[in-house]
Amino acid sequence: MTQPASKRQFKQATAAPAYVRHAKLKSWVAEVAALTKPDSIYWCDGSQEEYDRLCDEMVASGMLIKLNQKKRPGCFLARSDPDDVARMEDRTFVCSRVKEDAGPNNNWVAPDEMRSTLGKLFDGSMRGRTMYVIPFSMGPLGSHISHIGVELTDSPYVVVNMRLMTRIGRKVLDVLGDGGNFVPCVHSIGAPLAPGQKDAVWPSNKEHKYIVHYPETKEIWSFGSGYGGNALLGKKCLALRIASIMAREQGWLAEHMLILGIETPEKKKHYIAAAFPSACGKTNLAMLIPPKALSGWKVTTVGEDIAWVKPGKDGRLYAINPEAGAFGVAPGTSMETNPNCMAAVTRNTIFTNVAMTADGDVWWEGMTNEAPKELIDWQGDAWTPGCGRNAAHPNARFTVHSTQIPSIDPDWENPDGVPISAFLFGGRRATTVPLVAEALDWEHGVYMAATMASETTAAMVGQVGVVRRDPFAMLPFCGYHFGDYFQHWLEIGRGVKNPPRIFGVNWFRRDEQGKFMWPGFGENMRVLQWVVRRCEGGDNATQTPIGNIPRYEDLDWKGLEGFERIRFEKLMEIDNGQWGMELKDHAELFEKLKARLPKELDELRAQLAGAF
Ligand code: OXD
Ligand code: MN
Repeated sequence: MTQPASKRQFKQATAAPAYVRHAKLKSWVAEVAALTKPDSIYWCDGSQEEYDRLCDEMVASGMLIKLNQKKRPGCFLARSDPDDVARMEDRTFVCSRVKEDAGPNNNWVAPDEMRSTLGKLFDGSMRGRTMYVIPFSMGPLGSHISHIGVELTDSPYVVVNMRLMTRIGRKVLDVLGDGGNFVPCVHSIGAPLAPGQKDAVWPSNKEHKYIVHYPETKEIWSFGSGYGGNALLGKKCLALRIASIMAREQGWLAEHMLILGIETPEKKKHYIAAAFPSACGKTNLAMLIPPKALSGWKVTTVGEDIAWVKPGKDGRLYAINPEAGAFGVAPGTSMETNPNCMAAVTRNTIFTNVAMTADGDVWWEGMTNEAPKELIDWQGDAWTPGCGRNAAHPNARFTVHSTQIPSIDPDWENPDGVPISAFLFGGRRATTVPLVAEALDWEHGVYMAATMASETTAAMVGQVGVVRRDPFAMLPFCGYHFGDYFQHWLEIGRGVKNPPRIFGVNWFRRDEQGKFMWPGFGENMRVLQWVVRRCEGGDNATQTPIGNIPRYEDLDWKGLEGFERIRFEKLMEIDNGQWGMELKDHAELFEKLKARLPKELDELRAQLAGAF
């Protein structure tokens, strides 16, 4: 029997605006609406007026708090559900037709089974809400490296964050035309509203969370979470997991990498792309300000989280930042650690889960040496120093458009990308791994990246500080079997005449007292300087079994003369016992991946094991 049409049922009245010419897009939107049953559909045009209106509506509903507009013009604060604060790796799935294609590095469920589970969850999941249609471009509009996605979401918070993080709206549809390809992305917070029901400030589904990717059909379906990495589907889901699959099929790379530019005193420009796991300082490195003593060196920012890298006609690799904004970790960011970032977030920024001061400004751990005497913490409760709780959540975030970063590179939106001189791979390692080592060749560099490890951070749900293998800093983001991914990297390097040099770095080694041995932040410039000189053919290194490393005299110590040779040697130490254990761990990783592991990598492992 047909149900009588209720007032709260999806109304076809919210048809697509006349400028939408893509029939397949329109019918897909209608199909998802028929499943999720929103009260209305709204096509985002991407305008400032629309952004302002949505922010005002969220302020009215309590989802955003308007911060002190004198101190932080255009800034807002969102407080999430305490259970919805980070990426959920155990709820993230790659549902390939064949289980092995997803690899042991991904959670897998058969696509039909997952579609059936999600079909039930999405049925009516947007009731009482608006479904927003967000056409977005990852990468500069119209660039041959860019890709278009369309996200359907019932979260206005997602819309405003997507406007800061990507290029959205009508201009994207103009590029898409009437038949262009797009990646369909469906997101629901999974919190339908019954008639008259009062909304939660941060609605989400307490019981079910799924972040799902279908590699063959290149679709993304995310349910139950409003947190950035789970809900802003252009970022981790499209620009990394789905893009890594497209990149393999099409001969390019989608990587969890910042991109920075370095100008030498001779006015030569180099670009470096660097992979670090989440919350290991990519944003700080991308916005680094060189120490004053290293005059003539300048660093610019192209991107701070993701790089898409394609071979160019001249035999080099070229990279774009597919994003247009930063969704960075706030705690630890200060005028000392990252002045460029502090300047970027003075205006037009959305803060999530930071603390609020009595006068409506923001604060987080590490922002100043001393905490304010009283704060409202990230959950909205009164906070005083010494109360035993964090004021900001350790994974509190800011969302800000790239154009607000003072160090933004003039070529950050170059549709052809920027030529990469070097790749850096770095983990958070208290022991074993020296400050820097250069791979002996491309294959060795792939080995270095494939075997990197890092301590876990608050960016994902789970225990913090546990060392885990995180190949290429892509463990949570590679959309297919790591063995195939390593093979793809080997092939990319073999296919270009001038591949970038590859380096491993570790800013986080500790001494016997547990103190960091390297000052990090701006001082990392000394390592970047050495990397650049290596790329220029400098004879400034000595060979070890794990790669070429700088001697004390190979680094520029101007302004840091107090850093003694003996400390440097400790920082660079390659301890036989520690490396013996390290190689056992590499063997364990390779054992898990052995069905598809390139044999060259296992040969290299055996060779290295012989050296310790
Ligand atoms: C991020 C992450 O948000 O890696 O960039 O978690
Ligand atoms: Mn990241």
